[in-house]
Amino acid sequence: MKVITVRDYTELSATAGQMIADLLRSKPACALGLATGGTPLGTYQYLVERYRAGEISLQQVQTFNLDEYCELPRSHPQSYYQFMYDNLFRHVDIVPENIHLPCTDSADLQAQCDSYNALLHATPLDLQLLGIGSNGHIGFCEPGTPFDRETFHTRLTDKTRQDNQRFFDSLDEVPTTAITMGISNILQARAILLIASGEAKAECVAQMVKGPITEQVPASALQLHADVTVIVDEAAAALL
Ligand code: F6R
Repeated sequence: MKVITVRDYTELSATAGQMIADLLRSKPACALGLATGGTPLGTYQYLVERYRAGEISLQQVQTFNLDEYCELPRSHPQSYYQFMYDNLFRHVDIVPENIHLPCTDSADLQAQCDSYNALLHATPLDLQLLGIGSNGHIGFCEPGTPFDRETFHTRLTDKTRQDNQRFFDSLDEVPTTAITMGISNILQARAILLIASGEAKAECVAQMVKGPITEQVPASALQLHADVTVIVDEAAAALL
């Protein structure tokens, strides 16, 4: 694991954004795994700025998001589909057919998991962008998820729902389940870029980087991958 410590969130976003922009320039038809949540917002903003400056294009890119809430229609302002459009897709030249997120608008969630998983197997990811949950989750693979898990319908822990309550009006509105890539899908990406910011992430970042490899800390599975870059600001790096 290569760990890069930067001063603050602005520098983190520019450093991560630059890595993705470099990939887009060297391989315009790449497959990108994307994350939602608060942490990648600055990275997406950076990419939008590079696009507006004419420095990058996403016209040939295929994107695959890590996860999507169940119980919310795609049109809900807090669906991850909506998040991606609001913060990246509507601002760049990506082709809508090349955008992929798990579809949770269905009675048969297992069939949706299977079809998303088949899509991931058909298109190996060049780079997977990740955040990390304060409980060590990646995607929505919560503590206890077996490392060989592929795309599945998961129940969110109370901790994750509380952490994500800030995006909703009340805890009751935070979905209880989601479809997520499994740890096995994440580990199949050619390269992984994990970003973490703020003191609330210091403990889980330390466990991911130097703790034992254990299913209790899903992000510790990244120690098993040969090409992982972790970019952290000073607050998130405090316990390294
Ligand atoms: C989001 C995702 C999650 C988040 C994690 C951190 O698609 O899969 O693993 O990356 O919960 O979220 P933030 O960045 O909001 O702290």
